[in-house]
Amino acid sequence: MTRHILDVDDLAPAELARVLDLARDENPPRVLAGRGVALLFQKPSARTRNSSEMAVFQLGGHPVTIRGDEVGIDSRESAEDVVRTLAQYHAAIGARVLDHGVLERMVAVSSVPVVNLLSDRSHPLQAIADLITLRAHWGGHLEGHRVAWVGDGNNVARSFALACAMTGVEVALATPPGHGLDEVTLDAVVALGGTLSEVPSPTDAVAGAEAVCTDVWVSMGQEAESLERRDAFAAYQVDAPLMARAAPGAVFLHCLPAHRGEEVTAEVIDGPASLVWPQAGNRLRAMRGVLSWMFWA
Ligand code: CP
Ligand code: NVA
Repeated sequence: MTRHILDVDDLAPAELARVLDLARDENPPRVLAGRGVALLFQKPSARTRNSSEMAVFQLGGHPVTIRGDEVGIDSRESAEDVVRTLAQYHAAIGARVLDHGVLERMVAVSSVPVVNLLSDRSHPLQAIADLITLRAHWGGHLEGHRVAWVGDGNNVARSFALACAMTGVEVALATPPGHGLDEVTLDAVVALGGTLSEVPSPTDAVAGAEAVCTDVWVSMGQEAESLERRDAFAAYQVDAPLMARAAPGAVFLHCLPAHRGEEVTAEVIDGPASLVWPQAGNRLRAMRGVLSWMFWA
């Protein structure tokens, strides 16, 4: 059966554990020898493109990065026809899309695995990298630890909440009214046995948190809402006084790109609690882990 990963819970918890283990192998078997992986981008990327290309290369395969406007998804030809074509040459297709529904349409017709490289709904590879980062920091264990998410209940938050639920990490979430996680995600967290509390303020969220996580206030595709979002999120900045209220030794995570002076201050993201560079580095391990799991003989 062709397995697609549109969000992290397309993996069973035991499969996610296996991906996390495979991600640790710095000399992985060349499971993609002689095969291609198409990497399609409708939005900009630094980390996802580079980590995905390098992961495919390190697994013995050949990555082909394609800009959305080169193939013209739903303008030059339909998303379905693009995917049917790419599947003739490639062992898997990674896609970063404006609309999650496009990924669902791709999955419906694809004969090869489709991996979400970020949509407006989810960002599974980022969540896996975040787990890798926290697990390494916490000495190899995730279960029972506590994290805070402060800011937008967006694509990155959604996948992170699911990933935490799947690994026994407790989440406290502080989001402005109207910017929380949707009911479907909250129900999925419960169904996975996760512990997630929605709390009124960032200070409530960080109390006892061993990691404080955030993301931009304006995601790609939301530029028209910039002004109102900056107003709505003004009280949700992660700054040094907020970090001081977290558990002693708490670390800071951000998927990047970051906007210093908006969702996080320079003092925090460039300070000693910040794990953002190992976190960015772990995007490579995350993609290697996913592809190794997918193509293990
Ligand atoms: N974190 C992340 O996905 O970064 P890019 O948008 O640069 O790929
Ligand atoms: N939430 C951000 C994440 C970027 C990696 C966005 O979608 O733009």
